Amino acid sequence: MRMGVMRLGRVEARVLDLEKSIDYYSNVIGLQLVAREPGKAYFKAWDEEDHHSLIITEADYPGLEHMGFKVRYQEDLDTFEKAIEQYGIRVNRVSNRHRIGEGEAIRFTLPTGQVMELYHEIERIGNGLKLNPDPKPENLKGIAPPYLDHLLIAGEDVPATTDLLMKVMDFHMSERVILHGDELFAVWLFRTNTPHDIAIIKGPNGKLHHFAFGLSSWEDVLHAADCLAKNEVVLDEGPTRHGITRGLTIYFFDPSGNRNEVFSGGYIPGEDFTPVTWTEERLPRGIFYHKGEITERFTGVFT
Ligand SMILES: [Fe+2]
Repeated sequence: MRMGVMRLGRVEARVLDLEKSIDYYSNVIGLQLVAREPGKAYFKAWDEEDHHSLIITEADYPGLEHMGFKVRYQEDLDTFEKAIEQYGIRVNRVSNRHRIGEGEAIRFTLPTGQVMELYHEIERIGNGLKLNPDPKPENLKGIAPPYLDHLLIAGEDVPATTDLLMKVMDFHMSERVILHGDELFAVWLFRTNTPHDIAIIKGPNGKLHHFAFGLSSWEDVLHAADCLAKNEVVLDEGPTRHGITRGLTIYFFDPSGNRNEVFSGGYIPGEDFTPVTWTEERLPRGIFYHKGEITERFTGVFT
């Protein structure tokens, strides 16, 4: 039995104006609005089977409310609860149906300050593509990414959060940035077969750099750029390629200033993957491979 963390299952982002954000995530990003309650809206991407992968919650300031990783079995919650407490981090239980569609979860704060949940139970809606299916459903709107891909968080102590995720939750490292010979400045970690499910970069504690939706091709990235332009969305960088992960990318901002990304490609790492290392000489090409320059906005804006 192969237990453990399966994937990034959900991101809960704070937004300033719920209605404006519902419009953006429905019509520009092209997610499916699956549920609403006062102050919150729940979305899924079209190829996901679980009830939701994005929750937006109205608040006075933007940012990350929590991230949730789905585990393979319900019993994994007990195992991880013990292991994380033994590691020295306090764990709380989140009760069944605390949010729409969700079962029980365990909840704790990473050394870099973000709230993380592990859960197994969530209502299954399905993607409607299980019997003699077409490749895509009808009537997709906007960018229409098939799935939520990863997120990048910031914090002062990158090694501490990296150690917890790798030692206790068995994340594997695909890439890292080492500055001044020995400072672990950023890491890319995975549990799926993609180059990252989460990345961590040195910066202000508790902050979000971006969360990303997966796309299938460079054509889809181009289509996303066209959608963003048509809708006057504020672009940060791209379309371009990352040196790190080799992924194809565009960064842009949601109406509250949360940075979003669309991401496609990259290699398929195994659990025995040898991490790639970047140093200061080539780091700008690692971030934006073509331009080889990093802007102040990209390194300085967190929510
Ligand atoms: Fe990313």
